[in-house]
Amino acid sequence: MAPRPTPADKFSFGLWTVGWPARDPFGDATRPELDAVEAVHRLAELGAYGITFHDDDLVPFGADAATRDAQLARFRKALDETGLVVPMVTTNLFTHPVFKDGGFTSNDRSVRRYALRKVLRNVDLAAELGARTFVMWGGREGAEYDVAKDIQAALDRYREAVDLLCQYVVDQGYDLRFAIEPKPNEPRGDILLPTVGHALAFISTLARPDLVGLNPEVGHEQMAGLNFAHGIAQALWQGKLFHIDLNGQRGIKYDQDLVFGHGDLLNAFALVDLLEHGGPNGGPAYDGPRHFDYKPSRTEDMTGVWASAAANMSTYLLLKERAAAFRADPEVAEALAASKVTELGAPTLGPGESYTDLLADRAAFEEFDPQAAGAQGYGFVRLNQLAVEHVLGAR
Ligand code: GCO
Ligand code: MN
Ligand code: MN
Repeated sequence: MAPRPTPADKFSFGLWTVGWPARDPFGDATRPELDAVEAVHRLAELGAYGITFHDDDLVPFGADAATRDAQLARFRKALDETGLVVPMVTTNLFTHPVFKDGGFTSNDRSVRRYALRKVLRNVDLAAELGARTFVMWGGREGAEYDVAKDIQAALDRYREAVDLLCQYVVDQGYDLRFAIEPKPNEPRGDILLPTVGHALAFISTLARPDLVGLNPEVGHEQMAGLNFAHGIAQALWQGKLFHIDLNGQRGIKYDQDLVFGHGDLLNAFALVDLLEHGGPNGGPAYDGPRHFDYKPSRTEDMTGVWASAAANMSTYLLLKERAAAFRADPEVAEALAASKVTELGAPTLGPGESYTDLLADRAAFEEFDPQAAGAQGYGFVRLNQLAVEHVLGAR
């Protein structure tokens, strides 16, 4: 039996996920539009704790002030009725044709100024709704042609935009941090800040790096052939995992946005274990929202949409159970020690030891036997098989 989620599990969903009418580049919508108020009620019934949105998911692009106010009032009422919270807000800088060459990094300066204004307005709304994280996914910040974009100037403009937004949040006294969401491609041929690593390096150049972290998405790293759990481990290690987009992806291809766990299940297991428990040598865990950014497949009707939303949460909870069982298994503890996974937690130099001591340590080099060390087996396959058996419920 799949466990039932409660708000204490901190599951949240983008309004654009369950609300996706399944229009794709090759075919028309297969489902009706979903009203935001209904989304709030259905997600609350399913046991979610939060809902997130792009400005244009909630209020249509270009709506007049009266329409905007009325829609926000309906939405707030639904939040009050259900207790659902808004932990994160984001801005759509990718759908309207004005952003076809990007928002913060469009070659057209007037578009860049417009994009900043659109984001600033939405930052105010995020703060009003009590969101603590503001996600920035620059899906159109990129290029198809190498000669058509000065990448160094584009990075200057990206940094200029993020620095301005940080300054604004500080000046307003908002309790809000920014989370950059990397993606290698789609919709642009190549997107700026394509991976967790690129984004971390970019953040280190900002005026207020403390206010900016990451919102990595499972499928986006996997589209680049990268190990998502490794990327998350580094983000946590650097104190930069501000938010996370959970979903599924099957290899290097278009962005599938499948249900969490419906791609690389073993990596999803490693990820949940990491988020819940931190590293096996005491590295940090994650306590933010477990946010699902998936697309209910185009083949599904509305019943299938809600079943797929529930599937994300139950898969997470099942993996959480399996990870707890893995961690509690004495045979796993023994295998971790035999594989020296725990030995990696010991510093390479002893307390107070310097390179002078290391140079003087004959056991470390002159008397060390590299043949014997090279001949030892690490037992990683046995350890991984124990993980597989826990994932399959055989232990
Ligand atoms: C994608 C992206 C988007 C962003 C979202 C937030 O699947 O390409 O994940 O869904 O997360 O638009 O801006
Ligand atoms: Mn995606
Ligand atoms: Mn995402």
